[in-house]
Amino acid sequence: MKLLLTNIKTLLQTRENPPKKVCGEEMSQLPSINNAWLLIEDEKIIDYGEMKSLPEIEGFKPIDCTGKIVMPAWCDSHTHIVYAGNREQEFVDRIKGLSYQQIAEKGGGIVNSAKKLQQTSEKELYKQSAKRLEEVMKLGTAAIEIKSGYGLTTDAEAKMLRVAKKLEKNYPVTVKTTFLGAHAVPTEYKENKEKYIDLICEEMLPHIAKENLAEYVDVFCEDGYFSVAETERILNEAKKYDLIPKIHVNQFNAIGGIALGVKHNALSVDHLEVLTDDDLQALKNSETMPVALPSCSYFLSIPYTPGRQLIDAGLPLALATDYNPGSTPSGNMNFVVATACIKMRLTPEEAINAATINGAYAMGISDTHGTITKGKSASVIVTKAVPSYGYLPYSFGSNLIDSVIINGKII
Ligand code: NIG
Ligand code: FE
Repeated sequence: MKLLLTNIKTLLQTRENPPKKVCGEEMSQLPSINNAWLLIEDEKIIDYGEMKSLPEIEGFKPIDCTGKIVMPAWCDSHTHIVYAGNREQEFVDRIKGLSYQQIAEKGGGIVNSAKKLQQTSEKELYKQSAKRLEEVMKLGTAAIEIKSGYGLTTDAEAKMLRVAKKLEKNYPVTVKTTFLGAHAVPTEYKENKEKYIDLICEEMLPHIAKENLAEYVDVFCEDGYFSVAETERILNEAKKYDLIPKIHVNQFNAIGGIALGVKHNALSVDHLEVLTDDDLQALKNSETMPVALPSCSYFLSIPYTPGRQLIDAGLPLALATDYNPGSTPSGNMNFVVATACIKMRLTPEEAINAATINGAYAMGISDTHGTITKGKSASVIVTKAVPSYGYLPYSFGSNLIDSVIINGKII
């Protein structure tokens, strides 16, 4: 099917020769065309330009976009949307004064979600997860990374990833899957963490690889979870199966996870709420994308990733939701972009680059997503009539999305 979007107030992020990612000062550039058209055929962007140079086109469905902005749909490079139930009780416990870490020490947190997930059938898990995916698609997300990590047994980890793969099959969204067996130490291994890491290395990784369930590997590298040495052992083992690292680092403590990620050519290092000069230096001259998760900071009341500092140091930055039951029960990329502007002092141009092309890079899809480019995926957001694109993060509580097209399908 051909779709022709006409009279677009501003077509954002138009790049003829798109870079794989944008860094530092480049992040303030957001190339765009005013009074534009965009032609989509099946799953691809065919062409675009100014209305005054609109060629003769036949056999299309017209969509008038007067007053509206059209931009690449969001690329959410870090989520845990496959989970069972919720952790509303822990939310209340935190309001009453317990910290995220204290809750985890009491047996809550990730292992609490794992218990629930292990008891939930694959069918039910799919149903709950599909509902979340449908919600974020309507909020403009066209590509999403999904992690395991609430299974913590070989069977339950595989179950999570099968659900993610089924979502990919049944929805037009682009999905990338990540194996996160090292998300927490299950209660039964509390006194023998090494044995759990043996299980990850000797049983889980071979199984996940054999069933072709993941492309990436993740570890929660943090005090009380997995040390730098333990993380390295898992990354080394995962390398045997060509799983590329995308790791959780520096959420609460800077223990050297960033340098480790860079050493292992991680595609991304995510969280970075705590960042030292050494961490910043490690990221320089690397191809590893730092990923900030501002709605996690918002929900847990922890510091925001110093995104301004990273960009001012010439580094790239990507933004993602971290949608999960414990630290971020929200998958709204519009809120993430607004919060990055409001709390991390990113400009609207920087935040939009971070949530489109750099998000695409952080999940290995910048050749097909993240910019308006001929031949790329026809995945775009059409906003309601708005004064300008800066109005999107400014008006942070409003849903300004009119419609979403994902891989050529109108949602
Ligand atoms: O990215 N930090 C580790 N993992 C998730 C939270 C997991 C949970 O609390 O369930 C995160 O914030
Ligand atoms: Fe996470």
